[in-house]
Amino acid sequence: MPALRIKSPELLVAESGADLEGHGLKRTMGLFQLICFGVGAIVGTGIFVGLSDSVAQAGPAVVVSFVLAAITCVFTAFAFAELGGAIPVSGSSYSFAYAGLGERTAFLVGWCLLLEYGVSVSAVAVGWSQYVNELLDSLTGLELPAALSAGPGDGGVINLPAVVVIALASVLLVRGVRESARATAAMAVLKLAILVVFCAIGFSAFKDGNLTPFSPAGLGGIGAGTTAAFFSYIGFDAITTAGEEARNPRRDIPIAILVCLGLATLLYCAVALAAIGAIGGDQVGGRPAALSYVVNEVTGSTAGGAVIAFGAVVAIASVVLAVMYGQTRILMSMARDGLVPRVFERVSPKTSTPVTGTLLVALVFAVPAAFASLDAVVNLCTIGTLAIMAVVNVTVIALRRREPGLTRSFRVPLYPVIPVLGVGFCLYLMYETGWTTWIQFAAFLAAGCLVYALYGRRNSRLAKSAAATRTDAEAVSQAV
Ligand code: ALA
Repeated sequence: MPALRIKSPELLVAESGADLEGHGLKRTMGLFQLICFGVGAIVGTGIFVGLSDSVAQAGPAVVVSFVLAAITCVFTAFAFAELGGAIPVSGSSYSFAYAGLGERTAFLVGWCLLLEYGVSVSAVAVGWSQYVNELLDSLTGLELPAALSAGPGDGGVINLPAVVVIALASVLLVRGVRESARATAAMAVLKLAILVVFCAIGFSAFKDGNLTPFSPAGLGGIGAGTTAAFFSYIGFDAITTAGEEARNPRRDIPIAILVCLGLATLLYCAVALAAIGAIGGDQVGGRPAALSYVVNEVTGSTAGGAVIAFGAVVAIASVVLAVMYGQTRILMSMARDGLVPRVFERVSPKTSTPVTGTLLVALVFAVPAAFASLDAVVNLCTIGTLAIMAVVNVTVIALRRREPGLTRSFRVPLYPVIPVLGVGFCLYLMYETGWTTWIQFAAFLAAGCLVYALYGRRNSRLAKSAAATRTDAEAVSQAV
């Protein structure tokens, strides 16, 4: 068994710092921008589109599902906060695993990040077209034909709006992080405002009776609802991918992660209560563009629903932007380590962004966005994200043992109870995704092992530099 190839946290940070001296990324993001970036990455398809699926599973007890999903995320958010503060580089969980568990695990984490970021870009883009159609319908009375607004799995031919939103996001990302951060901040504020307005409208028509029976499908329904609700929290860790573009990453990244998760949990529970309290779980469950429907029902006109649909279009677009940003930064870190081709590492001196990497990511993930159904991509994205989160919790434990003296601006409280509970919750939710998803995930991991064996392992820069160091040492010892 070959020794673990471990990269020290100091080396990871020094390498990213070395880039900053030359043609690297610019440090432009403060705490407010990081929070906006986090809200940008988190609040989107999960609440605007996925809420109706979670309600179909759990009924009004979806609130419990949201809290359980949030608890799973909070345990892991502590882990991300500790690691993001200690190793502020753009590779996120991939880089943390490289320092804590070695190259092989890091590669597989990077591979699973393609599910969390790449596949979720596709999933989120697919969800976008529901509200684009709702908006078009309320404004003009016309909708895009089904053939052009859904993939074959959802009864169409190609999902053009999903492709368009990915193309728009890639243009913004290529233009520069300052421009995309500005757009992300504006979109984050707008979507929070729209959801607050939604809650006000929903609660104005609130009826206690709509919350009974509270848990029509019992514990099983709450469990399934939790797995569905989990998708709406995916993205909070994307904040750590801004480690090389944050002005004060050690202080701001842990704060931004915890603030974003707290905000999202409050908002999701309030939105779910407002929607169900206004028109009842049966009406919300399984309904496309459900939030617009609720507002139309309560106000008796389609104008309110159009405003919500506009908010959803903006909100979901901002998730695509933030998540695509995260994917390009992770691929950049992996390319820097030689584990994926170097093309992902190249930063344009003109825009200071990884132009070719961004365009390649857009091209590759536009394909599932155009042709896949939402359910098919959401489950795979969920299981991959949960697996990464479990590994991140294990990494905290491994690094506390291996690097006790590492500077940590934030420490997971109640260590090691919280990381162990974090792993437990992640494994439970992974189990809940069902065996079809497990089989797809196993096949995906097997493909990852193959790519690592055939490409990553051979091209690893860490392995090459270790070999070079050994050769130098041998030459010296022979000369003496
Ligand atoms: N949490 C993100 C969303 O709900 C992926 O769109």
